[in-house]
Amino acid sequence: MEKQNIDWGNLGFGYIQTDKRYVSNFKDGKWDDGVLTEDAMITMSECACVLQYAQTCFEGLKAYTTEDGRTVCFRPDLNADRMYDTALRLEMPPFPKDRFIEAVKQVVKANESYVPPFGSGASLYLRPYMFGSNPVIGVKPAEEYQFRIFATPVGPYFKGGAKPLTICVSDYDRAAPHGTGHIKAGLNYAMSLHPIVEAHKNGFAENMYLDAATRTKVEETGGANFLFVTKDGKVVTPKSSSILPSITRRSLMIVAKEYLGLEVEEREVFFDEVKDFAECGLCGTAAVISPVGKIVNHGEEICLPAGMDEMGPVTKKLYETLTGIQQGKIEDKFGWVVEI
Ligand code: PLP
Ligand code: COI
Repeated sequence: MEKQNIDWGNLGFGYIQTDKRYVSNFKDGKWDDGVLTEDAMITMSECACVLQYAQTCFEGLKAYTTEDGRTVCFRPDLNADRMYDTALRLEMPPFPKDRFIEAVKQVVKANESYVPPFGSGASLYLRPYMFGSNPVIGVKPAEEYQFRIFATPVGPYFKGGAKPLTICVSDYDRAAPHGTGHIKAGLNYAMSLHPIVEAHKNGFAENMYLDAATRTKVEETGGANFLFVTKDGKVVTPKSSSILPSITRRSLMIVAKEYLGLEVEEREVFFDEVKDFAECGLCGTAAVISPVGKIVNHGEEICLPAGMDEMGPVTKKLYETLTGIQQGKIEDKFGWVVEI
């Protein structure tokens, strides 16, 4: 397969239109068979539920080229599960999980020339999403929906790749207790646009959100979960019912325990403890694991001992092991890597 003429090593995290995308429509109580199409445009009613009441959700996963030249993706079953749960919370008809995985494979195959070569540091980002498409003016769920998946080649989510980031504690809340923080609804990202624009204006890469009820506990950022490493090498991640259950974070916790033999803890993390950690990282599909060097809380700086020059040693080990599994360089003990 001839690859596209793209400067893979210099890709950022942006949209590049690829050849084919998958579309399935839900009408009269059922999903149709679904097709691949070259048409990247969507036409719908001015009163579509997604446009009026933001009835939309999405997922994100990546396809890679392994060292021995296979095209694979990582734990797509967990994206299928999460989108199913998200859909139920938003009163949308869940897209069948087996068909989700099948559609992912179809889209990757149809855009194989855009899957970055091994060693380029880039990947093919897949964006499954779903929205209510028929006219709705009284507040209620739509009756018709569209499920789509497009693919776009991407590089690192944060400029500078593995350079430690400086983030700030947000004055805004991301998710309420008993709200929608645990699902991947578009509305969670719409509300984060103002805080992220402000954070960027002030020179920060991301926002650290605290729990809305007490503002004493660490939740997550706008697009990634936190991992911390204690000074004695334990990997700690915040437990909360209002953060997104990150597939990367869940995988890294298993990597830490089962591959690296580290102690792991998923528990409430108080902001007051953050100053005592040795390392901090942001983990997600887009971010993989991006080190945090500094956290600023209204002028007060917390400088992680790992510093601002490179990843801390444990973060680095986690990063190398996870990406090693994804690229077929390290044994895939748990069957996470799915061949396309
Ligand atoms: N938290 C938020 C708010 C996200 O948007 C994402 C991205 O998907 C994550 C965490 C990381 O989740 P995952 O590792 O499943 O990509
Ligand atoms: C991802 O990591 O896939 C995300 O969805 C994060 C961000 C791009 C919203």
